[in-house]
Amino acid sequence: MAFPASFIDELIARNPIEDVVSSYVSLNTKSGRLWGCCPFHTEKTPSFSVSTEKQLYYCFGCGKGGGVINFIMDIESLDYPDTVRFLARRAGLTVPEDGSYVSTAKTKTRLHELNRQAARMFNANLWEPQGAKAVEYLMGKRGLSKSTITRFGLGFAPDSWDATMKALKNQGFTEKELLDAGLVISSKNGKGAYDRFRNRVMFPIIDVAGNVVGFGGRVLDDSTPKYLNSPDTLVFNKSKNLYAINLAKKNKQRRIILCEGNMDAVMLHQAGFDCAVASCGTALTDEQARLIAKYADEAVIAYDSDEAGTKATKKAITILERHELKVKVLRMGDSKDPDEFIKKHGAEAFNTLIERSENHIEYQLLSLQNKYDLSLDDNKVEYIKEATKLIASLPNAVSREVYGARAAEAAGVSSDSLAVEVERLRKNRLRKEKKAEQQQMLTPADTLQPKERSLRYTNIRSARAEEGVLQLLLASPELMGSCAAKLLPEHFSSPLLGKVYAAFLQLFAEGLNLRVAAIEGQLTDEEMKHVISVLQSDRIIGDSKRTLSDYCEIIKTEYDKRTYSGEQSLLELRDSLRKRKGYEDDE
Ligand code: GTP
Ligand code: MN
Repeated sequence: MAFPASFIDELIARNPIEDVVSSYVSLNTKSGRLWGCCPFHTEKTPSFSVSTEKQLYYCFGCGKGGGVINFIMDIESLDYPDTVRFLARRAGLTVPEDGSYVSTAKTKTRLHELNRQAARMFNANLWEPQGAKAVEYLMGKRGLSKSTITRFGLGFAPDSWDATMKALKNQGFTEKELLDAGLVISSKNGKGAYDRFRNRVMFPIIDVAGNVVGFGGRVLDDSTPKYLNSPDTLVFNKSKNLYAINLAKKNKQRRIILCEGNMDAVMLHQAGFDCAVASCGTALTDEQARLIAKYADEAVIAYDSDEAGTKATKKAITILERHELKVKVLRMGDSKDPDEFIKKHGAEAFNTLIERSENHIEYQLLSLQNKYDLSLDDNKVEYIKEATKLIASLPNAVSREVYGARAAEAAGVSSDSLAVEVERLRKNRLRKEKKAEQQQMLTPADTLQPKERSLRYTNIRSARAEEGVLQLLLASPELMGSCAAKLLPEHFSSPLLGKVYAAFLQLFAEGLNLRVAAIEGQLTDEEMKHVISVLQSDRIIGDSKRTLSDYCEIIKTEYDKRTYSGEQSLLELRDSLRKRKGYEDDE
């Protein structure tokens, strides 16, 4: 661990979670916890809770949770060391920096600097003789204004194998740094390197904090590949970033327009739509959706109108809805993408398009209408089948009636008969759901398993007791001493719970406070999510000392069963059980 545990201990003590959280979320007290609307997903009724006693937060809606360090990591998008620095500043503490963490933070800062310099240089190239053809391309062919070029910091990478590399080396950057930033590629023979981006117009990709994290480079003609993007680096992750989010996040309408191409986003901004972002040709991810939900309540999908774009739209609808965004879909008719639409019809028309855009149900219904030839009877039957399925999935009765009537009209059948079919499907569905619920109640072990497959419990009985031990210790740290004497981390059947227990033991041994935030640097996101879902629960516990010793008994018995096997070991098992129950004293 690179920060001393005693420092982290003090850091946590000086940053009570309720204080830190309440500068982001307004909290109210209800039944022993503080409650508010979750800042990590959009919601209207509070399911986000903070326990001052356990010093942790947990959202019953989206399952996010952790201690104070985790909270800041997520809400400020900082990594662990930077979060520690952030909280230290907040509490007026000085961070005892040690080599390892300083170096990644420094490397990151260095990469940001390097990318910024590169972006500046690419931009400067535009206005030199070598950049004339790029300017002609951007302004002449694509219709961008000079101020748009400046706002987005667009640039030009020269037609050379090493011009960019040389220039940046001259500014004091090493070849290793250039490699780490993905600006150069090492040659096959391992000796030397060459520029990744050659003879391309350059789109710097800037994150929400305003750092240049990567680039997209486009050819000036029809050669391939059309776009070349930075590889994933220490500071750039394609699936977490959105192009132009640095500008779009400032918009006041709580709306984001999501398009596929960088050029679409740039063109929309130029036309006055300052809330446009691009997913850079990758399939939309949950992380990107979360980023959108942070700055918007409504997402307008403006993907290309080709087959690939239509497919991507369907997937994006599901993901965006998961983050409780109101989703609308644009249909650009004769234009293949927003860039082309704006050029053909102008900004005013695009605005009308947004205002009249369909919510995703209308969109999906219309897609179905396009898929089938409704003048043919068998097509009509298929259409009704799919449409009723879609409508039956709507939770709201009014929407079912409205869209049901619309689908019926399109198919030329009576809305009553369609409604009957919708109700039949719905009843079926509800029955199935209820059955599944009952099934789950009958096999509780299944429902208590961690969601992530790799964390699944192999011994439910033991795992239940292991969870109990951790919950007890967090609630009554004074039991730690007697527990440490009885139970070892290797007795745990769940490696994850064992790891948490080991961390608790370590804190205890060092005389530090037992707190969730103290172990946050040591667990992955998925691990943390599960651990918190366990720790936040307030299982009713009677005599905690007695309960603890029952749990320990179960864990050790299960441990023995796992480790002893075969005939001879059955005897050993008996002996060990006797011993534990104190029989040896009677003999
Ligand atoms: P133009 O209008 O032709 O300049 O492109 P566009 O911005 O409309 O992009 P398009 O819809 O063709 O593609 C969407 C996005 O996918 C682009 O902005 C790129 O980020 C990405 N993309 C497109 N072509 C390629 C490619 O050949 N390689 C890679 N890696 N990405 C690409
Ligand atoms: Mn385009």
